[in-house]
Amino acid sequence: MRGMASLVQPLAAMIDSIDGVPLTVEARRWLWPIVAICTAALLFTSAALAQTPGSNAAPRMKAIVYHNYGSPDVLRLEEIEKPVPNDHQVLVRVRAASVNPLDWHYTRGTPYIARVIAFGLLKPEVTRLGVDYAGTVEAVGKNVTRFKPGDEVLGGRTGAFAEYVTVLEDRAVVLKPANLTFEQAASVPIAAITALQGLRDKGKIQPGQKVLINGASGGVGTFAVQIAKSFGADVTGVCSTRNVGMVRSIGADQGIDYTREDFTKSDQRYDLILDNVGNHSLLEYRSVLKPKGILVTVGGGGPDDRWFGTFFSRPIKALILSPFVSQKFEMLLAELNKEDLGILSDLMQAGKVKPVIDRRYSLSKIPEALGYLEKGHARGKVAITVDPNQALLLHSSPDVSSVNTIGPVLIVLALVTIVIGVTIVPIGVAFALNRRFQRRNPGKRPYRWGLYFSILSFLGGIGLGIILDSGGSALITCGVIYAVLAWFFAQRRHWAWIALTILSLNPVAWIINSIYLRKRWAEDSAATPAI
Ligand SMILES: NC(=O)c1ccc[n+]([C@@H]2O[C@H](COP(=O)([O-])OP(=O)(O)OC[C@H]3O[C@@H](n4cnc5c(N)ncnc54)[C@H](OP(=O)(O)O)[C@@H]3O)[C@@H](O)[C@H]2O)c1
Repeated sequence: MRGMASLVQPLAAMIDSIDGVPLTVEARRWLWPIVAICTAALLFTSAALAQTPGSNAAPRMKAIVYHNYGSPDVLRLEEIEKPVPNDHQVLVRVRAASVNPLDWHYTRGTPYIARVIAFGLLKPEVTRLGVDYAGTVEAVGKNVTRFKPGDEVLGGRTGAFAEYVTVLEDRAVVLKPANLTFEQAASVPIAAITALQGLRDKGKIQPGQKVLINGASGGVGTFAVQIAKSFGADVTGVCSTRNVGMVRSIGADQGIDYTREDFTKSDQRYDLILDNVGNHSLLEYRSVLKPKGILVTVGGGGPDDRWFGTFFSRPIKALILSPFVSQKFEMLLAELNKEDLGILSDLMQAGKVKPVIDRRYSLSKIPEALGYLEKGHARGKVAITVDPNQALLLHSSPDVSSVNTIGPVLIVLALVTIVIGVTIVPIGVAFALNRRFQRRNPGKRPYRWGLYFSILSFLGGIGLGIILDSGGSALITCGVIYAVLAWFFAQRRHWAWIALTILSLNPVAWIINSIYLRKRWAEDSAATPAI
């Protein structure tokens, strides 16, 4: 109590007089409540300031993130830390972005084989989405020489669906042509580079060549038509009825309406086909290619193509078919680089190529934009406008029904089944057949590993059929052929051994068999009269 009094007394004395001038009784009555209110306000403000991010807290920005595979509804607009450029990077304020099929492949984690190779098996390894962007340089690292604050740029960078991105200055980023809007510029990177590299690098396009673009009205297609024209080719664009006029208007010499005409049945022959759709077999494409013609596969398959997708199965088919035909089957995996972006910028600056924009969405509406793109009928590009003033629409936790939880379970199950299918099952069946053989032929040595191999080949044949999307009848035929061969192999028919060995299409099996089975064959020949 005594301590408290010693604290209050000087305070009371201070309030009795200010700067030595004594206060009146009336003034003293009002001073106390004023001091109390000011102190409370001070305390409240400092507490509030301690709670909110102050000038020391890291700056924030809005970005699209996702933590589970699924439909576009798993995407959320969240506040995350704003990136800081290092010495070699530029910080770009994103003004526009654009969506590509790649974005829904990442969101859904399909085809599943891509999860194993790149995306992350059970959950996305990278939780940010988007690649194409255009914007304004806000800051540069101290070693950056190509750009300065205020430059307008376009480029490709993972995580482009955000208010800011940092980019290494020597990566895929170039100055935006002045005659393009930010939306047009953001439409360029993936789609236009794909079209350019497909036609120029894989297709070896030449002036005067007859070039067909399958899927001419989409993101890649609208650039491909214009780029092929800039190379001096005679261009045919394949698209649906409503887009024939648009494809002609951007430069195609002919437009084929795929709802009315199947171009693979026509008499026309092409030097180069750029395939963005993957809806015909290699043999069908071959039938309309000139003898030295080239088919460049760019894409194909939709969200329902879950397991392998055209892009993974077609190289196997091409490998099998190529030795027997004169045409070339090429696959393209586009690579974003500043050199090609520069070439495209020049083409756009010269007015030879102009991005075609179908729709525009805001950053918070990216799920809708992706949903639209997934339908597979975009007319050119779907652009995203990044408006810093738009209301922050933070999604609550995603709709459980839209999260793809079956995918990971199915994938793990499939992987386990494949491992068991191609290893343990053949061993089990081989042992059973061997026991049966030994019961019937006491004293004779069985073909234990040979049997294992033949069953493995049988399963491999069926697997190949599935990968090649061969259809039910082809699969059954393949299965029956391998089963018959495996049966005759078990009967120790040497011709079945040779046929199975060749049809295994497996060089390791060829070597093992030529060593192991030759011994068994020699034993057979010694023990029994030649078959
Ligand atoms: N390999 C790579 O590096 C790479 C790079 C980029 C893109 N891609 C792939 O390339 C493909 C195309 O990409 P995109 O951005 O152009 O896709 P997109 O913008 O969604 O365009 C799809 C287009 O396909 C057309 N189409 C649909 N069915 C057709 C049919 N039966 N015949 C002809 N055209 C048909 C649609 O035209 P209608 O509306 O007239 O039907 C639509 O314009 C995708 O599979 C994508 O994954 C690959």
